Amino acid sequence: MELQIDIGDEALVGRSTPDPLRYAFSKKRAAHAGGRSAMVAADKVQSSLTNALNGAASGRPRCLYVHIPFCRVRCSYCNFFQYASSKALMARYFDALMSELRWKAAMPWTQAAPFQAVYIGGGTPTDLSAEQLTQLGKTLRELFPLTPDCEITLEGRVNRFGADKFEAALEGGFNRFSFGVQSFNTQVRRSAKRLDDREVVLERLQSYRAYQAAPIVVDLLYGLPHQDEQVWLQDLQDYLDVGVDGVDLYQLIEMQGLPMQTLVEQGKLPEPADTATKAGMFAMGVEFMARHFQRRLSCNHWASGNRERSIYNSLAKTSAEILPFGAGGGGNVAGLQMMQSRDIDCYIEAVEQQQFAVPMLSRASHDAALFGAIKAGFDRGVLSQRALDQQAGYRLFEQLSPLFSAWQGNGLVSLSEGYLSLTTAGQFWNVTLSQNLIGLLQAQPAATLQQAG
Ligand SMILES: C[S@@+](CC[C@H](N)C(=O)[O-])C[C@H]1O[C@@H](n2cnc3c(N)ncnc32)[C@H](O)[C@@H]1O
Ligand code: SF4
Repeated sequence: MELQIDIGDEALVGRSTPDPLRYAFSKKRAAHAGGRSAMVAADKVQSSLTNALNGAASGRPRCLYVHIPFCRVRCSYCNFFQYASSKALMARYFDALMSELRWKAAMPWTQAAPFQAVYIGGGTPTDLSAEQLTQLGKTLRELFPLTPDCEITLEGRVNRFGADKFEAALEGGFNRFSFGVQSFNTQVRRSAKRLDDREVVLERLQSYRAYQAAPIVVDLLYGLPHQDEQVWLQDLQDYLDVGVDGVDLYQLIEMQGLPMQTLVEQGKLPEPADTATKAGMFAMGVEFMARHFQRRLSCNHWASGNRERSIYNSLAKTSAEILPFGAGGGGNVAGLQMMQSRDIDCYIEAVEQQQFAVPMLSRASHDAALFGAIKAGFDRGVLSQRALDQQAGYRLFEQLSPLFSAWQGNGLVSLSEGYLSLTTAGQFWNVTLSQNLIGLLQAQPAATLQQAG
């Protein structure tokens, strides 16, 4: 049976326009598509997770994720903010985190195979004290089986992250640092409520780099208020000049209810860039990186040399298993998808009783691995026929050719010898394309996909 594909549907195939980069779709979607998953009944959450962590390893790659939900000040554009950093609250949280690490590390599933990557994300993990950073790193290395080349990333920002803390983190065994810079421009930074001016950020990054101890990567945003194309070009140039190991270029995603929205409505901030302008800024970034021979690791990520590997980010986008820790940490183990409670009190109470702080648990559907492979392919900028068919278990790539041809006609992809590669326009719209493809598969009657085999 054939897949039902409506190639007349503009929301699916994009507009036919001379400028697909800017106008193929109306707006980038914010959410990431998941698979069809089934909720686990509330009274089965604890026993299901206990069984999973008493079980054997699956053989899939595995990572640890530790969430630190504190920031000193909330940036006006950010939707990740949870709690203001306070010494007392952070100390209480850190104790609970240590208990959770010890408890889960002792479980058979955890000890059954080595982890390839560890990510301490947030929030702002660099707001932890020097002692906490060393202790966290050492605890992870002592308690968990890690591969010899395990990537252990500390995320955060340069604010109040001086030599003492950087050295404490190195002593703890962190071997990769990811700093949110967003923009180097002081006016852009101040209006977004970033805490240090341009000179401080540049000086800090240079100082970490001078240790030559671990890869340093930075996040840049494009489309912030006051960040016009000239400022953006200077941001890209600053990344290159400061000589760090890699960069992520993210478009600003506006979400309802952010402080930035209120400031714009009150006339205190100029409008952030619209989608067409951001598309142009993305293309500037792509051209800039190519001109300066930066090595591309995904649609949004580049490395300046061989030091940056980005293991966690690439594994997390495939079917890797991720064991989560902390309030707001998410992951998946043995086909169970979980998000831990974002509320610190609920989290601490659960950990004290050796309960999983997981209010909702779902079981991934059998399509989850296929959808994971699709998302990973689009994130990288290329979908391989062989890999897709292997994952699906039938000739899915060929069945999708009406959609792929329509995308090609609209300037979003190019098809050649078993590969669907994204054009610059397709790279800008990669999340939309991947969501459209996954949505299309989800909308097929189940019998169609089975018979397609
Ligand atoms: C969870 S934050 C942690 C980084 C660190 N706390 C900092 O502020 O530098 C990770 C990244 O998410 C990105 N981010 C935050 N808000 C965003 C938004 N509204 N749109 C797109 N990216 C955003 C930023 O680039 C940020 O560096
Ligand atoms: S960008 Fe970073 S520091 Fe700013 S609010 Fe978000 S997580 Fe916190």
